Amino acid sequence: MRIGIACSRVRIEEKLITAALAARGVEPVRLDPRKLILRVRGGTPPELVGLRAVLLRCISHSHAFYLSRWLEHLGVPVVNSHQVVATCGDKFLTSLSLAAAGVPQPPTALAFSRGSALAALGELGYPAVLKPLVGSWGRLLARVNDRDAAEAVLEHKETLGGYLHSLFYLQEYVEKPGRDIRVLVAGDRVICAVYRRSTHWITNTARGGTAAPCPLTPEIQGLSLAAARAVGGGIVAVDLLETEEGELLVNEVNHTPEFHGAMAACEADIPGAMADYVIHVAEEARCCGSPS
Ligand SMILES: Nc1ncnc2c1ncn2[C@@H]1O[C@H](COP(=O)(O)OP(=O)(O)O)[C@@H](O)[C@H]1O
Ligand SMILES: [Mg+2]
Repeated sequence: MRIGIACSRVRIEEKLITAALAARGVEPVRLDPRKLILRVRGGTPPELVGLRAVLLRCISHSHAFYLSRWLEHLGVPVVNSHQVVATCGDKFLTSLSLAAAGVPQPPTALAFSRGSALAALGELGYPAVLKPLVGSWGRLLARVNDRDAAEAVLEHKETLGGYLHSLFYLQEYVEKPGRDIRVLVAGDRVICAVYRRSTHWITNTARGGTAAPCPLTPEIQGLSLAAARAVGGGIVAVDLLETEEGELLVNEVNHTPEFHGAMAACEADIPGAMADYVIHVAEEARCCGSPS
């Protein structure tokens, strides 16, 4: 069986998934999105012929967004599906999907103008968090501790920012205990959970957070699976925040999770579990065989 892995850069994660696929008797085929032409007509391009599924490991959200939709158009099973990529790639769409599924999350709102954003922040209370709708690695997040700070950040964003910076995604600040929890999920399986600890309120490993083992409690498992299902399933990382009252809230769901930090802190075979899931998708797909 041949399975494609689409990625522009082959990081440690992609190398490990490739090796895990090969160890399971699959022939992994690297697809470089920068070299592909996503033709609207003309059928399946030669690079894709014979692939039973494609795993998207693109760093660029827009590459994953369009590739997932195009592969589905061609009838090639893709992990993650376009629905999952589109939902997880946009924090407001994620929030709405979680809300529709009854999954707990911090109070959140979207506003289109400085005035409505300030009104929404008044409702949420300070401190609050402003985030770009699309983004990762903790970039361009702002914690605003009072109205003065909020006015300054909103004015700067409106004046200096482009299209995405005039959409204000606002959230209550959760007083978490110096860490958040990252849970890796593949289909119906929770692979592992790690704490991401930091002295900074932004705990992403890309921002200096360090991973430590986190026991997989039934509550963490149940909530992570519910969050993963809410966005459409697949291979995702669910980020959880612990409140001062000991409640767990879902902060976000990532569609192309990095896991080198988690790997150092837990014993689970993360690339193996991801490879198993993609193989499962390939085997389950009705349209098995070469896409026409
Ligand atoms: N509402 C919040 N309250 C407290 N901490 C938060 C909140 N939102 C985000 N954070 C912290 O910031 C980090 C990055 O936020 P996140 O929404 O996951 O953005 P990104 O997509 O850039 O990772 C989280 O892992 C968490 O540590
Ligand atoms: Mg995050």
